[in-house]
Amino acid sequence: MKHSELSLFKEQGQKITCLTAYDASMAKILDQSGVDAILIGDSLGMVIQGKENTRSVSISDMIYHTSIVSGSSNNALIISDMPFSSYDNPDDALENAKAFIDAGARMVKIEGGSEHEDVIKKLISNNINICGHLGLQPQLVIKSDDYRVQGRDESSAQRIIDNSILLESLGVSALVLECIPSDLAKTVSEKLTIPTIGIGAGVDCDGQVLVSYDMLGITTGKQPRFVRSFLDNQNTISEAVESFVAEVKGKTFPSQSESY
Ligand code: KIV
Repeated sequence: MKHSELSLFKEQGQKITCLTAYDASMAKILDQSGVDAILIGDSLGMVIQGKENTRSVSISDMIYHTSIVSGSSNNALIISDMPFSSYDNPDDALENAKAFIDAGARMVKIEGGSEHEDVIKKLISNNINICGHLGLQPQLVIKSDDYRVQGRDESSAQRIIDNSILLESLGVSALVLECIPSDLAKTVSEKLTIPTIGIGAGVDCDGQVLVSYDMLGITTGKQPRFVRSFLDNQNTISEAVESFVAEVKGKTFPSQSESY
């Protein structure tokens, strides 16, 4: 899938499905189960490396996993997270983003808004496709207790709206919205022509993303309310992924009780 098709999906009212993968076996399953985009998320810091947050994930870790995943997928759009501190200034960001493209990514994801304006302009002017990420920004989270719903009050909601409009105007191709109230995600999705991809942001986003280890029940401990265990009532991982695709496309995931 090409990055430009993401906007076509939105135009046609078709929901976008995205799951994370870090290894070849999972990448093949997702790719063959009809997932539109595969994210090599820096969530790998927690689910693969056992760390408390994403901040110690290195560029070389991400490049390694990106090359493995991209080598095992033929259909899905490959998106890679630029890890913490890999896009602190435009020159470093460009060098690192190019390494992701060489490793097979077709889009890179960057957390935050106006504070990265120069970085985003530099990448876009060098033809790097960008996915933004607003709302809860995992790279700002140190302890697991810090995972909180964002944009609940008027000023923080307005900041998310303003940043989303800015990102679109800069040429960002898609926007992840994490852990924000559904009505705010709906407002943002309606204001933008680029697609929003929600995680804990309600059913009105233009697509949905989950960490694959969470939706397969591999992650231990208490899960946030937006995680559904798709392996329940299914016999195989492929069936669980197909069920995620069907529920997102059918607008039955997430439900209201899985949203804020
Ligand atoms: O790292 C990740 O897996 C992500 C998703 C939670 C969107 O950024």
